[in-house]
Amino acid sequence: MPEFSPAFREQLQDLFRWRRDVRHFRRDPLPEPVLDGLLRTACLAPSVGLSEPWRFVRVDDPHRRAAVREDFARCNARALSDRAGTDAQRYARLKLAGLDDAPHHIAVLSHPEPTQGRGLGRGTMPQTTTWSTVMAIHTFWLAATASGIGVGWVSIIDPERIRAVLDMDPTLELVAYLCVGYPAQPASTPELERRGWERRAPERREWIRR
Ligand SMILES: Cc1cc2nc3c(=O)[nH]c(=O)nc-3n(C[C@H](O)[C@H](O)[C@H](O)COP(=O)(O)O)c2cc1C
Repeated sequence: MPEFSPAFREQLQDLFRWRRDVRHFRRDPLPEPVLDGLLRTACLAPSVGLSEPWRFVRVDDPHRRAAVREDFARCNARALSDRAGTDAQRYARLKLAGLDDAPHHIAVLSHPEPTQGRGLGRGTMPQTTTWSTVMAIHTFWLAATASGIGVGWVSIIDPERIRAVLDMDPTLELVAYLCVGYPAQPASTPELERRGWERRAPERREWIRR
């Protein structure tokens, strides 16, 4: 086990602080070995029963990408129509996906009943497969940030439709659709905070004790 230095821990804090959800991308693609390396790092994540339920799908086909963009536009328009007045105006001004510019699209699916892991740990909490996949996504996100690469999580999509667009096994659960590429401009605060939509709440840094 390597010994992690205080300087490394400080840098790690910077990494947590500077990890951002990115919606503005440069169009140049990542070198293949870099993206491949990030996906391999993601697979170091913990998983219930060592089941590794994640399935990363690189979406390269321009027709499928266009279909995903259309689905986002449709779902986002519906989300906007559920709001009224100034709330709707403020929502309409937000940029909530970098699907047009991001050079890489990655769908992340999860196997709800993997044979790997032999069911260990999910008898009482079957959702743990999904959570394991989220761990892999977060690992990917941090590893990408450490390499100066941006990741944007898009959830304003219809999972059934996206699964069909990608022609994936219907038993797999769509957990995330990620935009990946070099960020147009790095930022130290969440975009939703910069645009006055929401802010980090200090009370979340208070721990409940029982
Ligand atoms: C599960 C999940 C789904 C998200 N979906 C979206 C999305 O559809 N569109 C978007 O712009 N941001 C999305 N985000 C990003 C959050 O808005 C972002 O993480 C949050 O505002 C904090 O900003 P930060 O990640 O830059 O710290 C999602 C984040 C998570 C964890």
